[in-house]
Amino acid sequence: MAQDTRPTIRIRDAGEHVGAPVRIGGWVYNRRSGGKVVFLILRDGSGLLQCVGSAKDMPAEAWDALGSLPQESSLWVCGTVRRDARAPGGYELALEDLSVIQAAQPDYPLALKEHGPEFLMDNRHLWLRSPRQAAVMRVRAEVVRACRDHLDSEGFLLMDAPVLTPAACEGTTTLFGTDYFGQQAFLTQSGQLYNEAAAMALGRVYCFGPAFRAEKSKTRRHLIEFWMLEPEMAFVEQEENMQVQERLITAIVERVLERQRGELELLERDVEPLLRVKPPFPRITYDSALEILQGKDLALPWGEDLGAPHEVVLAEEFGRPVFVTHYPAACKAFYMQPDPARPEVVLCADLLAPEGYGEIIGGSQRIHDPELMERKVREIGLPTEAYRWYMDLRRYGTVPHSGFGMGIERVVSWLCGLAHVREAIPFPRLLNRIYP
Ligand code: 4AD
Ligand code: MG
Repeated sequence: MAQDTRPTIRIRDAGEHVGAPVRIGGWVYNRRSGGKVVFLILRDGSGLLQCVGSAKDMPAEAWDALGSLPQESSLWVCGTVRRDARAPGGYELALEDLSVIQAAQPDYPLALKEHGPEFLMDNRHLWLRSPRQAAVMRVRAEVVRACRDHLDSEGFLLMDAPVLTPAACEGTTTLFGTDYFGQQAFLTQSGQLYNEAAAMALGRVYCFGPAFRAEKSKTRRHLIEFWMLEPEMAFVEQEENMQVQERLITAIVERVLERQRGELELLERDVEPLLRVKPPFPRITYDSALEILQGKDLALPWGEDLGAPHEVVLAEEFGRPVFVTHYPAACKAFYMQPDPARPEVVLCADLLAPEGYGEIIGGSQRIHDPELMERKVREIGLPTEAYRWYMDLRRYGTVPHSGFGMGIERVVSWLCGLAHVREAIPFPRLLNRIYP
């Protein structure tokens, strides 16, 4: 192909180049022939573009390649962008030339037909190329961007927590152990404990990173490795903690509706329930949740944690996100502040998403009293030596403080209307899967 002066553009920007000659690097997504013309659907990661070629407008070699390149072949195309209402996206490229980078092997595993989920997961590295998966990844990136923009605008500071830790945060049964030069270490379950130190240093902070749970659960909402956003705030009690969560969730939903509407449409996500996400979110106590559940033949003994079926039914009652507050201390983590009026329950809330998605946020006020924290750590048999620094936070200027953790994949699943959280992360780690 003649080296020329055409600018190289990306498909997402095609609309800015109408009438102009351009060059685009991409992959063959699909092709159909209409007699003397060939319609090539080109994929470049930023979108899909219909490229129309005919023998009379192209060199013979390029015309031959156009009619024969297998799916996922890589190439440069040259042509002129034109507006065409019939073309997907509203623009098409009138092809003038192309040059093949590689004619792909003809046996692309994910040819354009239906495949089962296990097969798709085995080929996750290729499946990510499909428009649906690309749409989910764009929504995911938007969610992360919205979280950071929103928290930054509220004066929070990003303070990332370590991944390798000597101690547990969320109970000792789901720890991933590893050897740290002869010392036992774990992959973090949550950045919270470090975040508490960060909040005492900088007031309002958040961390955003991977968390690991060696959980033997094989459900549509559990990953072994997931990404969590964790804000932590000094001088903030549980009611204000929930208000921060409401504003955050509302900001995320609004942003995705505003900037990723096209992706939600591609995913065939009914946006009507998302338009209803407005603060304040309803709040119910654990006790009244049990009453609602009893009326739905899902009775639960007081003291037991809610499971997925309970959460689904509760959130359905309200049709929008709902806080469940005041859980029994026994079914929650050691650091949660007991309710002074009723010490058998803690000042906490889980935020449940509607439409079957359940818990997307877990948060609480933290114990700030040194004696009480000391007692809790001993009671549940945590190694006090590993938590010495954490106790220091209660010794030197302790203050009431609160925070929460939001699972990114759970939120993305809900916003995209996905059937399983595994599609909300590029390379999911599941109970039975660490490949690819
Ligand atoms: O409720 P969790 O376990 O809370 C914590 O880890 C706290 N230390 C967070 C904090 O207060 N800073 O987890 C918080 C959220 C859940 O609501 C859920 O969205 C997500 O993290 N999550 C998971 N997501 C996918 N797979 C898993 N196995 C998850 N476990 C928790
Ligand atoms: Mg939880």
